[in-house]
Amino acid sequence: MRKNIVAGNWKMNNDLPQTEVLLLDLLDQTKSSNAEVMVAPTFPNLYFAYKKLKDSFIEVIAQNMHFAPKGAYTGEVSAAMLKSVGIKTVILGHSERREYFCEDDTILKQKVATALENEMRIIFCFGEKLEDRKTNHHFKVVENQIKNVLFGLPETAWTSIILAYEPVWAIGTGETATPEQAQEMHAFIRNLIAEKYNTTLANEISILYGGSVKPGNAKEIFGKPDVDGGLIGGASLNASDFMQIVNAF
Ligand code: 13P
Repeated sequence: MRKNIVAGNWKMNNDLPQTEVLLLDLLDQTKSSNAEVMVAPTFPNLYFAYKKLKDSFIEVIAQNMHFAPKGAYTGEVSAAMLKSVGIKTVILGHSERREYFCEDDTILKQKVATALENEMRIIFCFGEKLEDRKTNHHFKVVENQIKNVLFGLPETAWTSIILAYEPVWAIGTGETATPEQAQEMHAFIRNLIAEKYNTTLANEISILYGGSVKPGNAKEIFGKPDVDGGLIGGASLNASDFMQIVNAF
C-alpha cells in the first residue's frame, strides 16, 4: 500500500554513545507520526538501536547488505544476519555504494533478489549525476537504473519495494531539486511502472525523494502529488531537524 515514509540514512556517522543520544532525542521529540518513520544506523549499532526503538513508532533499518547467504566475504553482512537482529528493511543502490564500492546493476539485481528471498523490504535508490541532467539524459539514466534491476521482478514482489529518487548532485550539497523537478521525475517513474506493469501497481508504490531535504523545504517537496516522503541524510543526524521533516506530513 502506498504510504508516506520518512527514512533517516545516518551513513558512516555516530559511534555507540552518539547513537544512544540521537535515539533518545528522537524518542523525546515525538511519540507518533502521520508517516512511517525509519532510521538507518551503522552495522555495529543496529542491534542496540533495534532494542531501543522496538516498542516505538520508528523502525530501524540497514544501509546495505551482501547478496550471498554466507561465506568468505570479509567485511560483509548477510540478510540472515540483519534479520537475526530485528532488521526487516534494507537500503540498496545508494549512489555512494554505486560510486565508492562499484555497485552496478548486476550486483544490485542479486542484492534485490536476496532481500526478497529473505522477505525483507527494500528502499531502492537511484538518481542521475549532474552531467546527466546538464545533458538532458536524466530521465534515460533513471529509467535504466530502475529497468535493469527491478523490471524483471514479478508484480507480487513490488509490495516489498520502496523507491527513492536521489539526484546525485543534490546529495549533501545543500542544493535541492526543486519541488517541481522532484514531482516531474516521480511522475515519470510512476508512469514507467504503469507502462511495464499496470496503473494500480504504479499508484501503490511509495516514491521517496532524497537530496538536501531540510526542515525548511520538506513540506513543499512532500506536498507534491507523486512525492511520498524522503530519504534524509545530513538532517537526520539532528533529532529536532529530523522530526520537523517527519512532521511535514
Ligand atoms: P543529504 O540529505 O545529506 O543530502 O543526503 C541524502 C541521502 O543521501 C540520503 O540517503
